[in-house]
Amino acid sequence: MIKHESKLEFCAKVMQWFEANKRDLPFRKDKDPYRVWLSEILLQQTQMGTGIKYYKKFIKKFPKIEKLAKAKEETIYSIWKGLGYYNRAKNLHKTAQEIVNNYQGVFPNDYNDLLSLPGIGKYTASAISSICFNSKRYVIDANVYRVLSRYLGINKKINQSKSYKYFENLSKELAKGIKNTGAYNEAIMDFGSMICKPKNPKCDICIIRKTCFSYINNTQEKYPLKEVVKKRKVRYFNYFVIQNENYYLIQKRYNNDIWKNLFEFYLIEDKNIQNAKNVFQSTINLHKNVISHKETIQEVSQLSHLKIHVSFHGCFIKKKRDFSLIEKLFKLKKIKKQKTKNLGFPKVIDNYLKYKT
Ligand code: ADE
Repeated sequence: MIKHESKLEFCAKVMQWFEANKRDLPFRKDKDPYRVWLSEILLQQTQMGTGIKYYKKFIKKFPKIEKLAKAKEETIYSIWKGLGYYNRAKNLHKTAQEIVNNYQGVFPNDYNDLLSLPGIGKYTASAISSICFNSKRYVIDANVYRVLSRYLGINKKINQSKSYKYFENLSKELAKGIKNTGAYNEAIMDFGSMICKPKNPKCDICIIRKTCFSYINNTQEKYPLKEVVKKRKVRYFNYFVIQNENYYLIQKRYNNDIWKNLFEFYLIEDKNIQNAKNVFQSTINLHKNVISHKETIQEVSQLSHLKIHVSFHGCFIKKKRDFSLIEKLFKLKKIKKQKTKNLGFPKVIDNYLKYKT
């Protein structure tokens, strides 16, 4: 049970603070579910400043959901470029198409209908349904975990799956008297980002510090509690995408390692990208002009025990003779560019190829 006095203080003050200090975010101008959805997807694992930049690009190119649904996947990938996690871009496209095809282009207002759409989880469904349709659904994100943990001194580890429900119920109880759940959700997120920040919280200007457990007990640093998870091993893959007009050079992964039997490009494992490039360059021992290093694209592959930073370096080989020499030197196999769809690649490479073609 939350102390009555703390509960009243929390909601009233946080909402008051929000009214006076809310951020002027471009997707807050109206409650259009297309815009809110787009912003929430772009803001996942992304800083607000970056999210806004991408949001503006997307809205400019796709002002309406129909345009996004009709877009070519490559066009979406090219605007998405730099955000990583290309699966999210794919789901963005799929959801736009489902809404146009199955909902006549109108976003469903029901939480469970929203939840059934690709890439929309509990957080996003709660955000859209509360902000746009004023349903009583509470968003639980890192801000909410932190603000509530500190304010109430919650001794629950936030990365345990049962904690989600616990914090959802807390929010429900705290916000019982609040009519505008969407505004409450946004208030707590803004308050968490601007005042109750992860590092150096601004307790000196905090309006709820008098009833804040952590301010009173000086436990701001302790909360939120997290289960210490074993550190994932980290590896650094540099893929050299050796190609000419029509072909890529690839190899099969044989050793007892991840992605066994899948195909990949020529690989140099090195944390330092420049080192890898130098090694590659000196191994083939060709004049720099022969290879045009196109842009480098970086992705991350996350497995439960392993995180792999993957960078792709486009290498265009102009002369046929050089191409064959490299093929032999590295014992690679040439494959027609159109045929890559028929081969098994790790997901990060699949995503890269989709983005390229
Ligand atoms: N972070 C993600 N979505 C947000 C929103 N709607 N308001 C504030 N911060 C956010």
